[in-house]
Amino acid sequence: APAPDCTLVIFGATGDLTHRLLMPALYNLARWKLLPARFAILGVSRSAMSSQDYRSDLTERVRGFIAKKGGEAGGGTFDEAVWSGLADRISYMPGDLADPETFAALKESLAQAPGGGSVLFYLAVAASLFGPTVRRLGEAGLLEEPEGAWRRVIIEKPFGHDLDSARALNREIRGFLAEEQIFRIDHFLGKETVQNIMAFRFGNGMFEPLWNRDHICHVQITVAETVGVEGRGRFYEATGALRDMVPNHLFQLFTLVAMEPPVSFAAEAVRDKKQEVLLATPSAEPEAAVRGQYAAGRVQGRPVGDYRHEPDVAGDSRTETFVALRLAVDNWRWAGVPFYLRTGKAMARRDTEIAIRFKPAPLALFRGTGVDAPVENWLLLQLQPDEGISLQFGAKIPGPKVRIDTVDMRFCYKDHFKVEPSTGYETLIYDAMIGDSTLFQRADMIEEGWRVVQPILDAQASEPAPYAAGSAGPAEADDLLAREGRAWRPLHEA
Ligand code: BG6
Repeated sequence: APAPDCTLVIFGATGDLTHRLLMPALYNLARWKLLPARFAILGVSRSAMSSQDYRSDLTERVRGFIAKKGGEAGGGTFDEAVWSGLADRISYMPGDLADPETFAALKESLAQAPGGGSVLFYLAVAASLFGPTVRRLGEAGLLEEPEGAWRRVIIEKPFGHDLDSARALNREIRGFLAEEQIFRIDHFLGKETVQNIMAFRFGNGMFEPLWNRDHICHVQITVAETVGVEGRGRFYEATGALRDMVPNHLFQLFTLVAMEPPVSFAAEAVRDKKQEVLLATPSAEPEAAVRGQYAAGRVQGRPVGDYRHEPDVAGDSRTETFVALRLAVDNWRWAGVPFYLRTGKAMARRDTEIAIRFKPAPLALFRGTGVDAPVENWLLLQLQPDEGISLQFGAKIPGPKVRIDTVDMRFCYKDHFKVEPSTGYETLIYDAMIGDSTLFQRADMIEEGWRVVQPILDAQASEPAPYAAGSAGPAEADDLLAREGRAWRPLHEA
């Protein structure tokens, strides 16, 4: 059903996020007829520009983006009629977020807007502006909900840069907003394949009985990217792989895999169970973490220079572009089962995967028949690319001798559902409009996530270990598992 009437105000309207992700997602929502009947988009940014110019610039960008990305973003062809229907509702207002005048002008323009007074503010701006912008919105009276209408704020990541700053930011925005009005985004939660983790676990009866320390020996969570910092040097230098990816994206995957079944799929029921995983996770030990930084190499045949030569990156930068860590979950389900997490830029392949390793058969019955080591049983949740789920087990190789090979039982998302998964932002924008916060981060989850990684941040003085661009990360990351007699799975063949 279409979302309820509202106005969407985008701060950071000329930024990369708006161009690349928000507008294509809004276009998709328009195609699917999920946008409100009475709806307007108001873009706010510093550049002086007319609404007309803003719309034509967006049109070019979205058209180009859909042509390039094809199915992933919009079914391949750009539907001019759908876009122009949406573009008609877009207007632009130049404004400096540090200037209270901007908010006075905004208030005036919102008084005329369709949507019955309901407004969704999207903070697609630098993280340093999250707090001040909410404050100015609040001071201008824009966050008070008019009779029968709502006011909500979507806040991008990174939410804080450590535990203290995240707490301070939560405190600051909670001065103007109730928790139900705050939608802290983690776009991984918008990904179909990420949501499918819950469907897989809790929509089926046969996996859950095995989903515990009695049957699982360890879990590996990998988010490997082939891209480098792509011109985001300034942001990345101050952020690094740990802050950029771990307490947010990787922890979504971690908590969805480790959580207890919720009593329902209502927002608080689900979020409580995810939060319990973090509460049971002892803070990371710096000795069980590896930070790496890419050196020159080749990624999929393409030469890549070292991180320290990227624009806006210091020649002696110690910012990590890779991180691996070992976590434990101290509860009845997971006691003694390590969770190994790793993520990095400029790696050999783009591969986001959760790999669950089951305990071997109690007896190596087939020893001496060619299979001396017991078969490795893996369940692989491949989140991107090649979205799918596969189960690896041993099967007899045909022939008179008993020999065993590892085979694969596989569900391929695209082949079955005949659609490419979307960008993730469609679901999240729609959910914020209907007021469903299941797929958003609650204040306590954000803080608990930072609490878990804080010791690694505190210990960050050391040089990161170099790894060649196009590899699977530094050798030290392999040692992290080798110490415990294990090895990372090879990055999946694309
Ligand atoms: C963003 C990070 O949040 O997620 C980026 O800031 C990263 O550094 C990106 O590349 C990964 O998202 P996706 O959807 O491309 O896997």
